[in-house]
Amino acid sequence: MRRGLPVALAVALVSAGCSGEPTAPPPVTMPASALREVSTVHIGTAVAGGGHHADQGYPDPFATDEAYVEVLATQFSSLTAENQMKWEWIHPGPEEYDFAAADAVVDFAEANDQVVRGHTLAWHSQNPPWLQGLSDEELREALREHIYTVVGRYQGRIQQWDVFNEVFDDTGHLRTNTNPWLRALGEEVIGDAFRWAHEADPDALLFLNDYNVESSPAKLQAYLDLVARLQDDGVPIHGMGLQGHLSLRYPFPADLQASLQQFADLGLQTALTELDVRIPLEGDEPTATQLQEQAEYYQRAVAACLAVAGCDSITLWGVTDRYSWVPFFFPEEGAATVLDEDLTPKPALVAVHEALGAGGASG
Ligand code: G3I
Repeated sequence: MRRGLPVALAVALVSAGCSGEPTAPPPVTMPASALREVSTVHIGTAVAGGGHHADQGYPDPFATDEAYVEVLATQFSSLTAENQMKWEWIHPGPEEYDFAAADAVVDFAEANDQVVRGHTLAWHSQNPPWLQGLSDEELREALREHIYTVVGRYQGRIQQWDVFNEVFDDTGHLRTNTNPWLRALGEEVIGDAFRWAHEADPDALLFLNDYNVESSPAKLQAYLDLVARLQDDGVPIHGMGLQGHLSLRYPFPADLQASLQQFADLGLQTALTELDVRIPLEGDEPTATQLQEQAEYYQRAVAACLAVAGCDSITLWGVTDRYSWVPFFFPEEGAATVLDEDLTPKPALVAVHEALGAGGASG
């Protein structure tokens, strides 16, 4: 990318052929300064590991891919374990915890002057099979013990915890069919989980977290109502995370900033916790036009957060297409991150850099 030019103009200059049609994706160079250097908010990424990575032919990226790890260390001021703090990974048996992968992420973050978002203490997905055999009261006790153990282990070392993840479906109904704790114990267990987490680490900021909140009015309202009830009950809830899994198949969610603002108006901090922008692919590679459109989505998402007081954490759900979750869930989409599989920057990386810089840092 030609430095000093707005992303849109620079991409247009390099990508328009004689016919006016974009041809091959334009070359983009890494900005001279890192994202974390130009940003006034925490700029983070998920650290690849567990989940879909466990099924791939490649070795553990965080343990073996030095170029990737270098990007994590240099570009970001916040890290999230993509899967390594989820139940199936960290608590695989009733009496069995495996902290090795999570410890490695937290240790690495501290060594590189980064904060950590803890993800996640209760979710309907990626739970170990042993939870299925428990009674309602045993499920409650297991969650309490899990939260005390995991949050307690990292006391003082986690900036924000996603306490409950994705409690509503897109119609705003509590996920009582799929979330074992909500099925057994109802909404009340959400407040319990926040209280337990607060007891285990009084300094950690405690978040709800979900996707599509900004594009589903019913889901947004369900969250606003839930937060108000939790606050009325004196529950220590501090933040709302909007994940930001976007796709070029759909228009940019124009209500993103307004949705963040509605949670801010309730007194919560907010964060973009899992930002990525999927591209519908007809061949192997996105077109220059798609890359430009993707850059605009990233730029608008970052700008939306920066425009809201108290939105001070933006996390990308992966930094490189080499390890992105997207192709495994959306086989016809991909190229969702800001670096391609070779760790080469895309226009989206420059767009994020410019948008963060426009947020007021010295650069
Ligand atoms: O558990 C099954 C196993 O039984 C089966 O044999 C195997 C076959 O491929 O799949 C296993 O499930 C995998 C799962 O991780 C369990 O670890 C899925 O294939 C795999 O796609 C999944 O990936 C993770 C996904 O969460 C699970 O929902 C991704 O790595 C991770 O990036 C993704 O992250 C979530 C956030 O935590 C919450 N918000 C949405 C985001 C994207 O889905």
